[in-house]
Amino acid sequence: MTSPTDRPRRLRTTPAMRRMVAETSLEPRHLVLPMFVADGIDEPRPISSMPGVVQHTPDSLREAAVAAVESGVGGLMLFGVPAEGDKDAVGSVGTDPDGVLNSALRLLKSELGDSTVLMADTCLDEFTDHGHCGVLADDGTVDNDATLLRYAEMAVVQAQSGAHLVGPSGMMDGQVAVIRSALDDAGYTDTGILAYTAKYSSAFYGPFREAVGSSLRGDRKSYQQDPANLREAMRELELDLSEGADIVMVKPAMSYLDVLRRVADVADVPVAAYQISGEYAMITAAAERGWIDRDAAILESLTSIRRAGADIVLTYWAHEVADKLR
Ligand code: PBG
Repeated sequence: MTSPTDRPRRLRTTPAMRRMVAETSLEPRHLVLPMFVADGIDEPRPISSMPGVVQHTPDSLREAAVAAVESGVGGLMLFGVPAEGDKDAVGSVGTDPDGVLNSALRLLKSELGDSTVLMADTCLDEFTDHGHCGVLADDGTVDNDATLLRYAEMAVVQAQSGAHLVGPSGMMDGQVAVIRSALDDAGYTDTGILAYTAKYSSAFYGPFREAVGSSLRGDRKSYQQDPANLREAMRELELDLSEGADIVMVKPAMSYLDVLRRVADVADVPVAAYQISGEYAMITAAAERGWIDRDAAILESLTSIRRAGADIVLTYWAHEVADKLR
């Protein structure tokens, strides 16, 4: 016989009971919507490996952003997709104030002001013709310190264009420090840094490469982390915190919940996690086949990412889920 004290099921008996004792909550403000804006398209362009996600025109971006903010999402993370012919070796469009990403930031800032948190991807891969996150040295490797100069310039233009937070995602050493001092020197002391602290070299980014029309051949293993490593993430965390990161992020989310837990246990700043394109695609594809319950799987995945320690979750379902939670 089970003893009267060995009955945890008592707290699972009714929906009201389960709701009352739930340890983890999911609210619209916890969710950040990543959005893509593309140059040179007249209509939103669907991303085939991410059904339901599109590359926006400026107009459709504005509309979708306003609707997402009305649903209560915590913020928006913007990615720019230049026209193919506008890419070059150093990703010039990324630092052009009139480039696709910076113009979109200005547009959203004028539309939304401070009513949401506007974030921008601070990385060169969308803008380079070789598709790497940095500039290349003569031998074809990614040149860390030359890339830092580009990131610093990019962050300042993004701040100027209205970003509340810049999001360095290239995993270059020293990126947070260089961006912090560039922002401060330019007078943007209030613009924060959402640091991609532990970003792994992941096969689950596949659909994103389509989303941004990536030109990458090869891989990012010389700058993104090896999926085998956890201790290394803690080293990255220490560096990012000492360099002035305002928020730290783990990415991807679902395959790295242990990393997220460890980071959340020690970080003294808010922690974010990115439920990436491949995670979106997997759930979407399985649901399309009728193999899993789509809505339940989405909620379970997001709740689990929160339970593992994320204060903030970047997810392509942010708007949809925020609407449901309201
Ligand atoms: C790099 C960047 C990537 C993602 C966000 N920022 C791609 C990469 O590192 O290859 C992936 C996001 C996703 O897969 O949803 N700028």
